[in-house]
Amino acid sequence: MNLRKYLKRGLQYVRYGIPEKPVYAQISTLAPNELLKERTALITGGTSGIGYDISKAFLLAGAKVIITGRNKEKVDKACNSLSQETGLNTISGIQMDITDVPSFQPKLESIIKLAGPIDILVNNAGILGGNINNSTEVEFDKVIQTNLKGVFFLSQLVGRYFKRNNIHGNILNVASSSSLRPATSAYTISKWGIRGLTLGLARILAPYDIVVNGIAPGPTATPMLMRNGVRDDIALRKSLAGRYATPEEIANMSVVLVSNMSRMVIGDIVYMTGGAGLLTNDDINYNFD
Ligand code: NAI
Repeated sequence: MNLRKYLKRGLQYVRYGIPEKPVYAQISTLAPNELLKERTALITGGTSGIGYDISKAFLLAGAKVIITGRNKEKVDKACNSLSQETGLNTISGIQMDITDVPSFQPKLESIIKLAGPIDILVNNAGILGGNINNSTEVEFDKVIQTNLKGVFFLSQLVGRYFKRNNIHGNILNVASSSSLRPATSAYTISKWGIRGLTLGLARILAPYDIVVNGIAPGPTATPMLMRNGVRDDIALRKSLAGRYATPEEIANMSVVLVSNMSRMVIGDIVYMTGGAGLLTNDDINYNFD
């Protein structure tokens, strides 16, 4: 354990006392299945965290998966480990920066050439930041461009592609408990935007049998919040659930939401927040320095 971790743990002991026992997540994982057989999913930001686990769960549910990321090497590395972990070769990847809107059309063409027609889009890529206490304009713009503008234009493109080709597909947006919290950062504002956009896309695409929903994780054990994700201590004492969500839990629900088990779930956002945003916001300190 490194020094930072010792200090963090020490601070937690001082504030909350020594925990009686370690916190475990009691979760069930979907067994390999055919819920997404003959489906092809494009997942943005699949190189780590929630996007990685969604990719893995989709592969194990029978889908072909294409992941994107900013860095080609990281994309290739993630594809290799997804292939090793699942024993499947139905994974491929492409370098695509979600802030580079003009690249979307040619990238989509390459993706279709690589993997065939797609019928699922998961808008997952995202970054934290832009707190009102210290945000610069550049940081604010970067968060909004990554978390909201990119999702808007990629959904516009893929929505048109589904409609033109009569593909009865799915779009799943990764929202957040922040979609409900008082907005004091570019991040929170971007996730409020995702909530609204999910409703809007669902409304205009439903007549074409294109199903749009969102999934909203609360604090989740990924590199976004914890360097080593679920390998770190997942206790989160300020949360009602007492722990972080695991990316695997978010991935399980994502499979169900884009599968044909959920064709009547339209414009919904499934909150997997351990109560955060819905019942309390106590896991966050609000201040104005
Ligand atoms: P992560 O940092 O592990 O993964 C983020 C992914 O997005 C990475 O694959 C990264 O390469 C990719 N990405 C970032 N900027 C990009 C860009 N410009 N172009 C392409 N890809 C880019 O974080 P995590 O936690 O897996 O986040 C995934 C989504 O889940 C994000 O939208 C995040 O806002 C959301 N979320 C995460 C929560 C958490 O507590 N970890 C809670 C609620 C929502």
